[in-house]
Amino acid sequence: MRSPVSLSLALAVAVAPLAAQASDSSARAVLTLMPMPASVRVDAGRLLLSPFFRVAVPRYRDARLLRAVDRALSHLAGRTGLVLSHDIARDSLLGTLVVDVRAAGQTVQSVDENESYTLDVTGGRVVLRAPTVVGALRGLETFQQLVSGDSDAFGVPFVHIADQPRFRWRGLLIDVSRHFEPVEVIERNLDAMAAVKLNVLHWHLSDDQGFRVESRRFPKLGRGSDGESYTRGQVKEVIAYARDRGIRVVPEFDMPGHAISWFVGYPAYASAPGPYTLPTDYHFTAAAFDPTRASVYHFIDGFVAEMSALFPDRYWHVGGDEVDARIWTSNPAIRRFMRHHKMADAGALQAYFDQRLSRILAAHHKRMIGWDEVLHPDLPRSVLVQSWRGYESLGEGAREGYSGILSAGLYLDAMSSAAQLYMVDPLPAGNDLDSAQVARILGGEACMWGELVTPETIDSRIWPRTAAIAERLWSPREVVDIDDMYRRLAAVSVELEDVGVQHLSGPAALWRRIAGTDQIAPLRALAGVVEPVSLGQRMRLRRPTTVTPLIAPGDIVTPDARDGRALSALLDTLFRDPGAARGAAVRDTLAAMFARWRSIAPALAAMTTHAPLLIDADSAAVALAAASAVGEEALSYLSDGRTAAPAWTTDRLAQLDSAAAPRGLLRLAIVPPLRRLVLAAGGTAAASGQ
Ligand code: ACM
Repeated sequence: MRSPVSLSLALAVAVAPLAAQASDSSARAVLTLMPMPASVRVDAGRLLLSPFFRVAVPRYRDARLLRAVDRALSHLAGRTGLVLSHDIARDSLLGTLVVDVRAAGQTVQSVDENESYTLDVTGGRVVLRAPTVVGALRGLETFQQLVSGDSDAFGVPFVHIADQPRFRWRGLLIDVSRHFEPVEVIERNLDAMAAVKLNVLHWHLSDDQGFRVESRRFPKLGRGSDGESYTRGQVKEVIAYARDRGIRVVPEFDMPGHAISWFVGYPAYASAPGPYTLPTDYHFTAAAFDPTRASVYHFIDGFVAEMSALFPDRYWHVGGDEVDARIWTSNPAIRRFMRHHKMADAGALQAYFDQRLSRILAAHHKRMIGWDEVLHPDLPRSVLVQSWRGYESLGEGAREGYSGILSAGLYLDAMSSAAQLYMVDPLPAGNDLDSAQVARILGGEACMWGELVTPETIDSRIWPRTAAIAERLWSPREVVDIDDMYRRLAAVSVELEDVGVQHLSGPAALWRRIAGTDQIAPLRALAGVVEPVSLGQRMRLRRPTTVTPLIAPGDIVTPDARDGRALSALLDTLFRDPGAARGAAVRDTLAAMFARWRSIAPALAAMTTHAPLLIDADSAAVALAAASAVGEEALSYLSDGRTAAPAWTTDRLAQLDSAAAPRGLLRLAIVPPLRRLVLAAGGTAAASGQ
């Protein structure tokens, strides 16, 4: 049946032809989708969005799906300025976007949830089809990423997309122990996770430095929280918020090590008498549960009974990492127990503990997941292993029959670039696993450890880099073009801020605060050239504690410094064809870049006279000016067609080496490409990518 409203469809879906029939790959090059779908065909034409845009949900509909449609409409209105109807039709003829879903999906989402969908944009309308609501949630995100503007209007290209994830477990760990992260921080990160189709929040809820969930059964656990923990109501709220977005919440309560916060209120369960106080430093964990005492398992059983009712997910993360054997072997009673049970070492004692733990969890219908230290032949094959110490343990576990997920190489606090994170693949090409072993690799997780992040800085440490990881875990293995990843990441980054995370606005606000002014252009310019030092350097250079304010310039800048990559790209162009007219244009661009970089130092020197926290930035700017001068000299050799003397090359490389040393917690991101330029001026290795 046609209703009068369908007349307006003609207006809603006016078609704008593409200038030319694009080939598939060049047509894909206009898309800013991330993660890239499993299959995309782009056709000529574009469906324009208008105020008559309307969503129809004709078949299966539930509150979760309708809320997701509602969010998508609000988001689109906020981006396009269109007044969009939130009146969701049942008649598909009334819909510009028809969301055709067959069923709800699982009551408690599992790794087996069907997340697939298809999305067809034609001249008539957009049709999103999915077997489950979760698939529809994924498709709605893709639809929103397809929207782009031209000078007149917003529209969506004609596409046919058939999509499903490569891996079933695509997670983000957030450690809320070292620094507490309030519910709103978790929720805005869940929104960002949903935007890039991640499906597991691994909530690291306890560690030495803090125990972060209210327990009614064991109220003294609250003494290990420093006054900052989630109420049961807040936990339920976060789980419901995540479920609304097709995200599972897997709690981690780390044991037997990383457990001091438990012992502040309950010292009797530790392997040394205590008393215990919450540490503020990040030294290697110095306490562990005593695996030899029945009372410990009784306590854990009671705790799991309480918490398993709160956390519906099938999986429960027990931690299991980094137990210092001496904690146990220095205790005579524990040594006697080990001798009595013929345990060769602390590893055997931990396996005993983990076995008992897995039985407790099974009694409460939970499956155990642990860090790769839990790998031991005595453990049941139902245990899922999270590999953090290296890729090898993932393969080793899979060969021995354990399912696993990868986190080695995916630690966000290591400050690797998006490109480095992007290339970390749970199943790289050429792996030597057979098909049964391959099936055991469920996916991976990015890990945001909490030592160096606060609610003010955590978003800029997670995003946008985690979107690149999300693509690795969702998209086909063959999607590996790094330049194209960065092109799309730039668009997705803006979208993520729009979704709610503050990875762009947060750093700007911190610069204004520590500079004491809103005139922060020199700091923004510097942030395009410098990056945070690596995690190892950070811990050596200025060892932080839980109470160190994380507001140094090194806490504000992010990996993937914009100008570092821009300089590399310019040099690639220059060295490809140095003689061409293009080469001259590139040399002009480089000269302007170096001049701009040199101008940062005097501006920052002036700012630093009344902003002492800028001292690292000031000193990095001085190093940048010196490095820029080297770049200018090298460029003049190339422009004049002269070759620099070997002594010049040696000297200038040494100057660049000293410019590369950390300035406070900052390092220059442009030294490696500048070395290329100096080597080229000296007549060697010009085209090398290093
Ligand atoms: C870990 O980084 N200790 C899991």
